[in-house]
Amino acid sequence: MKVLSVASECVPLVKTGGLADVAGALPAALAAEGVKVTTLLPGYPAVMAALGGGRALRRIDDLFGGPARLQRGEAAGLDIIAIDAPHLFARPGNPYLAPHGGEWGDNGIRFAALGAMAALLATGGVRNVAFDVVHAHDWQAGLAPAYLRFGAKRVPSVFTVHNLAFQGKFPLDLFPRLGLPPQALSVEGLEYFGTVGFLKSGLWYADRITTVSPSYAAEIRTPEAGMGLDGLLRGRAGAVSGILNGIDTVEWDPAKDRHLVANFSAEALEGRAANKAALQRRLGLAEDPDALLMGFVGRLTWQKGVDLILGAIPAILGCGAQLALLGSGERGIEDGARGAAWAHPGRIGAEIGYDEGLARLIYGGADVVLVPSRFEPCGLAQLCALRYGAVPLVAHVGGLSDTVVDANEMALAQGVGTGVHFSPVQREMLEAAVWRMAGLWRDRDGFARLQANALATDVSWTRSAKRYATLYRDAIADAG
Ligand code: ADP
Ligand code: GLC
Repeated sequence: MKVLSVASECVPLVKTGGLADVAGALPAALAAEGVKVTTLLPGYPAVMAALGGGRALRRIDDLFGGPARLQRGEAAGLDIIAIDAPHLFARPGNPYLAPHGGEWGDNGIRFAALGAMAALLATGGVRNVAFDVVHAHDWQAGLAPAYLRFGAKRVPSVFTVHNLAFQGKFPLDLFPRLGLPPQALSVEGLEYFGTVGFLKSGLWYADRITTVSPSYAAEIRTPEAGMGLDGLLRGRAGAVSGILNGIDTVEWDPAKDRHLVANFSAEALEGRAANKAALQRRLGLAEDPDALLMGFVGRLTWQKGVDLILGAIPAILGCGAQLALLGSGERGIEDGARGAAWAHPGRIGAEIGYDEGLARLIYGGADVVLVPSRFEPCGLAQLCALRYGAVPLVAHVGGLSDTVVDANEMALAQGVGTGVHFSPVQREMLEAAVWRMAGLWRDRDGFARLQANALATDVSWTRSAKRYATLYRDAIADAG
C-alpha cells in the first residue's frame, strides 16, 4: 500500500509543533505494517537543502502565480516530494510567519498549492507515480481532500486534525483562484462562516477523519471544545476516530541521548541524578537532590495553561518543590515566567526560547513534568516525560487523560499509576495536584514505583501504526 502523507512541517527538516514530530516519525512505524509512505512538503529552503535539490518529477508552468517543480528525494530516511515553488516557499525562517511576526499575506495560496499538488500526484498527474490513499494533516493540507473529491480519479483521503484551534480561514475572494467547482463554496463544502475554511474543507471532504487521541475525538463533538465545528463533527460521527500519537523511541532514548549528561534506562536509573544536578545548575536552581524538581516544556500559550503554573507558584514553593520552565510564545506569559525566576532565585528557573537539548535534559532530569493544558489533542511532552522517567502531572483532558494513568488510591493499590491527573483545569485543582504529588514524593519507594511504571509505558508508534494501516485499508475498501 502506498500512502501520500501531506504536511506543512516534518521533523527533522522543519518544526513548529508536534505535527512535525508525527509527520516525521509515522512513516517508519508504518513501514513495519507494510505501508510505504511518501511525504509531500512545501519546498522551504531547509527542505530543498536537505534534498540536495532532488530529482525532477514534473514541471508546472503556473502554480498560483509562478513556475514550480515537483522534486523527489530522500532525507532523514524519509521519501520526500517537495514543491519547489520559489515564489511561494523560498522564504527563510518560520513556515507560516513573516519576519515581523505576522502571517504571510499569501498563506491561502501557499497552502492551496500544497493541497492541489497532493491531488495531482495521487490522481496520476505524474507518470509512474501513484498512491492508494492521501493522508492530509491539519488545515494546511485541508484542501487536498477537496481537490481529490473533484479530481480525475477516485483516491480516498484521510484527514487528521492535530489541533482544531488552527482553522485556516481566508477571505472569500480567494475562492475563484483555487480552481475548484462553484459548488465547493457552500455550507456543504468548504464555506465556513463567510470564509474559505481549509480545516472545514478537510473535515467535509475527507473519507475518514482522525484526531490524535480518542478523548479529543469525543471532546470535539461538544460545543465547548468543538470550536464551531462540533455540529459538522457530530454529523460525520461515523467517519471520526481517535488514534493516539506515539514518539520515535529510537530518537527519544535516554540510554543513547547525547543531550543528557548521563545516560540511563529503566533498568539502570542511577544516571538520572546527574541530569537532575546538571539541570539545576543550568537554570540556577539550588543543587539539591532532595528537592522535588518540576519541569515544563512547551509553547507559552493559553492552550498550555502556563498561566496556571505561574498562579500555582505559592503552592509549588510551599511544598518545597523547584520549577524549571522552558518555552516561548505569548509575550505576557514569557514575561511572567522570567519574572517568576527573577523573584525566586534558586527555586524557579526559566529559559525563554526553543532548545531541544535543554528540553531533553528537563525530561531526563526533572522528577515531574507539568502539562496543565486547557485542551490537548494528544500532547507529546507527557510521552517524552514517560519515556525519560519524569512523572507527568497532567490536566485530565484529551490525549493527556488517555496516555497517563492517574495514581489515585485504587491505582496505587493495584500498582498501575503512571502520573497524576487534575480536573477541572483550574489553578486550585492544579495546586491540589501539586500537593498530592509532593505527598507521593515524600514516600520515595512509592514514587520510585510510579517512575518505574512511567518508564514501562509503551509510548512507541507500534499500536497506533497498526490502527492507521487498518484505517487506510478500510478507506480504500469503501472507495472501492
Ligand atoms: P504542540 O504541538 O501543541 O506544541 P506537543 O506536546 O504535541 O505540543 O508537541 C510539542 C513538542 O515540541 C514536544 O516534543 C516538546 O518537547 C517540544 N517543544 C515545545 N516547546 C519547546 C521548546 N521551547 N524547546 C524545545 N522543545 C520544545
Ligand atoms: C498539536 C496538538 C498536540 C499534538 C500535536 C501532534 O500541535 O496541540 O496536542 O500532540 O498536534 O499531533
